[in-house]
Amino acid sequence: MTGERGPIIAIDGPAGSGKSTVSRALAERLGVERLDTGAMYRAVAWAVLRSGIDPGAGPPVVEVARTLAIDVGDRVVADGVDVTDAIRSPEVSRAVSAVAATAGVRAELVERQRRWVAERGAGVVEGRDIASVVLPEADVKVYLTATPEERARRRHEEGAEALARRDAIDSTRDVSPLEVADGARVVDTTGRTVEDVVEEVVGWL
Ligand code: DC
Repeated sequence: MTGERGPIIAIDGPAGSGKSTVSRALAERLGVERLDTGAMYRAVAWAVLRSGIDPGAGPPVVEVARTLAIDVGDRVVADGVDVTDAIRSPEVSRAVSAVAATAGVRAELVERQRRWVAERGAGVVEGRDIASVVLPEADVKVYLTATPEERARRRHEEGAEALARRDAIDSTRDVSPLEVADGARVVDTTGRTVEDVVEEVVGWL
């Protein structure tokens, strides 16, 4: 650490593992910003569907990722449209894994994510490939898990089957699959409070 920047924390894990809740609380606790990279992939999937493009089509999907203006903060805005709620729809959840498995999409979004961190010099960044690809130099790398039952309960609106299908695609794709990165600490959030998990992570800084 240079002493001039704050901590950079990478949080990875499957859907429903507690990433968003823990990341939000952790960022608040440390006084840094949080970046939800899943929201960026979802925003691209939303734009792809809006244009009537097949999410698995490859080049046209990459073109959407390259040209889409995405602002991820308290609200998620894509090309000037507030898509905060729309990106959580079942249609987007179904399409997002194919979009995220497209190498050109990942290259574009990874670059934007690195720029986000470089501009701030600190932050909590959550996703699937943050410790392995986006920020291998992060100060702390956390891989969150929870039992399949607990994850399905947290994401009940998506349905256990759809969730399992999305996890399978995210974990077996060729490009940057979800995996426990070198040096990552695995934390099972099942039955634990958010505060408890946050304090454990802060203790590793
Ligand atoms: O975290 P989430 O469920 O909102 O993420 C949506 C999808 O985006 C997820 O199915 C996989 C993909 N994703 C990814 O491939 N890499 C990331 N860093 C974040 C999300």
